[in-house]
Amino acid sequence: MKASMRIKQAAQAFALGEVTLLDGPFKHAMETNRHYLLELEPDRLLARFREYAGLAPRAPQYGGWEAESLSGHTLGHYLSACSMMYASLAEAEFKERVDYITDELELCQNKHGDGYVSGIPRGKEVFHEVASGNIQSKGFDLNGAWAPLYTLHKLFAGLRDAYRLTGNEKALVVERKLADWVEGILAPLSTEQMEEMMICEYGGMNEVLADLYVDTNEYKYLTLAEKFWHKLVLDPLAEHVDCLPGKHANTQIPKLIGLAKEYEWTNDEKRRDTAEFFWNSVVHHHSYANGGNSFGEYFGDADSFNDRLGPQTTETCNTYNMLKLTKHLFEWKASAAEADYYERAMFNHILASQNPHSGGMTYYLSLAMGGHKIFDDKFDDFTCCIGTGMESQASYGNAIYFKGEDKLFVNQFIHSELAWTEKGVTLLQETEYPSDDVIRLKLSCAKPVRFSLNIRYPGWAEQGVSIEINGEKVAVDQSPGSFIAINRLWIDGDLIRVVLPMSLRLEAMPDNADRAAIFYGPVLLAGDLGSHDDPHASEFLYAPVLLAKGKPLDTWLEAVPGKSLAFQSKMVGYPRNVELAPFYQMVDRSYTVYWDLFTPDGWAIAEADYRKVMEKMKRLEQCTIDYAQPGEMQPERDHDFQGDSSTRVGMLNRRPFRMAGQGGWFSFDLKVKPESEMMLVVTYTSAQEMPNCEFDVLLNGELLAEVQEGFTEEDKFYNVNFPLPSAALAGTEKVTVMFQAKEGKRVRRVFGLRIVD
Ligand code: AHR
Ligand code: ZN
Repeated sequence: MKASMRIKQAAQAFALGEVTLLDGPFKHAMETNRHYLLELEPDRLLARFREYAGLAPRAPQYGGWEAESLSGHTLGHYLSACSMMYASLAEAEFKERVDYITDELELCQNKHGDGYVSGIPRGKEVFHEVASGNIQSKGFDLNGAWAPLYTLHKLFAGLRDAYRLTGNEKALVVERKLADWVEGILAPLSTEQMEEMMICEYGGMNEVLADLYVDTNEYKYLTLAEKFWHKLVLDPLAEHVDCLPGKHANTQIPKLIGLAKEYEWTNDEKRRDTAEFFWNSVVHHHSYANGGNSFGEYFGDADSFNDRLGPQTTETCNTYNMLKLTKHLFEWKASAAEADYYERAMFNHILASQNPHSGGMTYYLSLAMGGHKIFDDKFDDFTCCIGTGMESQASYGNAIYFKGEDKLFVNQFIHSELAWTEKGVTLLQETEYPSDDVIRLKLSCAKPVRFSLNIRYPGWAEQGVSIEINGEKVAVDQSPGSFIAINRLWIDGDLIRVVLPMSLRLEAMPDNADRAAIFYGPVLLAGDLGSHDDPHASEFLYAPVLLAKGKPLDTWLEAVPGKSLAFQSKMVGYPRNVELAPFYQMVDRSYTVYWDLFTPDGWAIAEADYRKVMEKMKRLEQCTIDYAQPGEMQPERDHDFQGDSSTRVGMLNRRPFRMAGQGGWFSFDLKVKPESEMMLVVTYTSAQEMPNCEFDVLLNGELLAEVQEGFTEEDKFYNVNFPLPSAALAGTEKVTVMFQAKEGKRVRRVFGLRIVD
């Protein structure tokens, strides 16, 4: 069968080369990223590929996650990002890099001789073990390697982009051989074994294999893509069950992008419906004000955000992936809801995630009250979000405009120029949006051309919209959250002037009507609290409360004269008023994007309790030397989690935990301070526990005695203290804390491990 069953799309994105970003924050972000990409050394990214192919590396590998068993993931992203840059800017330097990397990958692949190529330590052995039925799959670990299919997915995607965006035919050849190799590995696996393997994160393997089917017309790649239907997650979603609470967010989103691609070439409505249900669940029930999702990488309960604020909110990869999915959904139905979400997440997460000066990018984007942005080191961290960030900051051009049958959609308001070649039309979009609410669209065409110009009327635009064509007002009868379609014969020089007046609004958390974010039009505002290393940041009420409950926003927030998008709170900030600015502009500052609202009378009653809650949490933070969050991937990895096959993670009352089955165990390494008296604080639940739990807590292999109960954190959780014997701490900076079930018994759910002094 040929890859010809493409569904009929309502809209189609323009190619990157047809859209030119012009001066403004997005062009600046892309430029900053351009510099970064050119600063990176392909030979260092390729080092492990060569090493594992038996070739001498030409340069030392990078550090951070590139020195772990996820190595090679960055090369895949880098290949994609350079291909996007080349497609956008046609700069030879990017093409040279793409070609060089592809040549090197071909060399490594030929050296392996069987189609395999990757930079994953023990990668080939791991996959051979899997093929032989020895599958040790633990969420992020497959037979001892960190999510190897996730890493392969990045390589596939890089090769695909090199082929599609730069015309490198060799990239397709390498990709195809690698896919044939993967096919061989997966061939012996039963459906049950595939399911077992897919417990470990596999990125968007279904996405790239579906793409390969399209690029080669080889049906077997689609069949292979379809094998990646992970029942545990996709079956409930297909039944419209939100099974996301407690699940690792970035593991799931790419699976749905894969379904979206499969749908587009098979017309299988179940795949479309599942992807749409997922999108709606994430966007409407699991996303914060900035359009991002996840706390400590995990989804929480639907509509539960109040207790999920902290430095580990909104992993940046997740939003990169959600935007990819959003683009598909928009292409299917051209509805404004998707374009509105795109705008929210693009301004308030993706643009906000880059340091506009250094080009560093965030991993988590903190939404903590009093938090600040932490930008990964560009040359030493190489987290997943640095990888996806390279792509995000290279591809703003890909969702501004879309085309339909005789239709042009203007989805995003970004200073840019579109070359709609099939129609002989050029559209110049002049705007300083969101600093200014005016958008001018100037058409150039050699001869008159009829089409419907569809301008997004954002859902937030409660003040209405005004449109003029060549100075004449156009009647608008649509409501916000739609497209305004203007169908006419356009001629050269036509000028469309759109004004989208912006206003201030509050967006409350669904689970706390008195905790809200403040927006100005599309822009999430953040209160500027001080420098990011402000010594006062840990003080009570550093992030002020607002005694403004029930008052119209424009009575207590005033625009700061002469400053774009800056507002000052008046009279309502307690203990102080602050200036607010776009969240995306916050760099090296402490900020808050969520505010607690009180009436003055309500605050008089609530202050004492509020102080107690905030101070208790602060005190604990201050005397904490190390904290490990069981059940969350990154903290577990940072604390060298070990365990037997009986150990499982889960979620209770919005908190992740880890437990172990009969006779099982798990352990973490935690930091200690030399020569000080310390205590291990373990958090358990007071909710009904699983039966048959009896276990020991060991410190470096020695039994620890539990002495007293600490305070109760919330109704459902309590802490138990274990003083640490000083003998065990002498001369060491780390200890291993192990939970060992007694014979035939289990380890109860552990929600937190903290070393305090
Ligand atoms: O495991 C690979 C990536 O690293 C995950 O998708 C991301 O959440 C993580 O931190
Ligand atoms: Zn990430």
